[in-house]
Amino acid sequence: MATIFALLTQNVSAHIVMVDSDQEKLKGEVMDLQHASSFLYNGNASIEACTDYSKTKDSSVCVIAAGVRQKVGEDRRSLLQKNVTALKTIVPKLVEHSPRTIIIIASNPVDVLTYVTWRLSGLEKNHIIGSGTNLDSGRFRYLLSQKLTITPTSCHAYIIGEHGDSCVPVWSTVNIAGVRLRDINDNIGQDCDDENWKDIHTQVVQSAYEIVKLKGYTSWAIGLSVSQIVNAILNNTTSVHAVTTCVQGHHGITDEVFLSLPCVLGRSGVMDIIRQPLTDLETKLFRKSATIMAEHQAQIKF
Ligand code: 2OP
Repeated sequence: MATIFALLTQNVSAHIVMVDSDQEKLKGEVMDLQHASSFLYNGNASIEACTDYSKTKDSSVCVIAAGVRQKVGEDRRSLLQKNVTALKTIVPKLVEHSPRTIIIIASNPVDVLTYVTWRLSGLEKNHIIGSGTNLDSGRFRYLLSQKLTITPTSCHAYIIGEHGDSCVPVWSTVNIAGVRLRDINDNIGQDCDDENWKDIHTQVVQSAYEIVKLKGYTSWAIGLSVSQIVNAILNNTTSVHAVTTCVQGHHGITDEVFLSLPCVLGRSGVMDIIRQPLTDLETKLFRKSATIMAEHQAQIKF
């Protein structure tokens, strides 16, 4: 719902179809959104719903946010098998109605589920995108902005790898107007750093756990993050976002594993992957993330 609200209020799409198995809830949400029409940029927005996917026919983009979510203290990876089961029903139906669609996955554990969606869909790899570390990068930029007193969009910083526990902050490339923070503080992000920038990464990793404990789930930031990704595709922005894609061939990864790297997004989905010059430590951490993901991918029962 947060994604749909962001898509409508940010004028990213004026043609939305919601699918859910709970018919009554769906009807209530649709009515509530339809009543918002006169307050939207495009009061003519078409907001529909169905339980059988029929109205999704010929969708340019499909967003999957279905599945179980974390309980207090539970990690994302423990949701895997239940959400694989949900995807087995959802993905074939989406592709049947929209064989040329681009699919964005936001359900967790998002990286492994991006791989699963690719396997279930039969679509090209660049047409399957996980919301990945676009959200972690947003949290990173926000926390940097607070420490630096500079707005988040001027804090150029990426988190790559797994969305969540083993995510990798690329401290070596963090910069403000081209001024790299590492050139000011050699030890930035490391244990030996007197200024303790590392704590920002710890807070990013803890963010979801803390919000789940406080309000039960996360919604607004992930909704806006997915809306940004949809916008990049529908409007062919060729903007760069850290999203989950197949990273084989990058930073020494040989497995067909799905993780986040900064990607150029546009009409054909992932159009390119940016090759960041990582430090040895960053490369090591990214490969560690890849090993963890490869192990999880190998356990999946299709
Ligand atoms: C988040 O990080 C729970 O993955 C979700 O907000």
